[in-house]
Amino acid sequence: MIIYVNGDFVPEQDAKVSVYDHGFLYGDGVFEGIRSYDGRIFGLDEHVDRFYESAQSIMLELPLSRTELKEVILETLRRNNLRDAYIRPVASRGVGPLGLDPTKCPKPTPGIIVDAEIRHPEDIGQKPASESGIKAVTVATRRNNPDVLSPRVKSTNYLNNILAKLQAHAAGDRESIFLNAQGFVCELTGETCSL
Ligand SMILES: Cc1ncc(COP(=O)(O)O)c(C=O)c1O
Repeated sequence: MIIYVNGDFVPEQDAKVSVYDHGFLYGDGVFEGIRSYDGRIFGLDEHVDRFYESAQSIMLELPLSRTELKEVILETLRRNNLRDAYIRPVASRGVGPLGLDPTKCPKPTPGIIVDAEIRHPEDIGQKPASESGIKAVTVATRRNNPDVLSPRVKSTNYLNNILAKLQAHAAGDRESIFLNAQGFVCELTGETCSL
């Protein structure tokens, strides 16, 4: 795949960021997950808006305008000749000294990662999850409480989701159902819960 990183389109093996990037050191960044179906991107404006809202929530000033970001997303798809794709805009605080102070990171690191998606699982002999169902377990880890870190911020710090995933694996299951602090069902680890 061709990946956009820091202003350049590069082969994925060359799409690298520094170990001093605060995304790597502290999970200080934001992302989005977008899909395109048959050459059309679903909800591009809405996803780009949410990306900017996440960035704004953590006071991360993105180095691209919304229009530029949309153009970069389209160009990444074109360069990879992708019509059915998963698109991952991501931006981290950028390179800075050790120590978590974000004001010492002068330049955020933006990136667009894309991947081919299998649009019809039937084509590869699989039933879609909407027909076959999924195995899930309710886990002890709770979803981020909004007064700690709002779940509206799609941040690159997913540790409690990862812990929930590990619990689901330990229980021999595949997905975990998050409860919120009040004990209400709210989300899966990487999806909205539609139970
Ligand atoms: C925890 C979580 N919930 C829900 C979703 C689904 O997000 P969307 O609102 O884009 O469907 C995601 C996607 O990354 C996620 O990570």
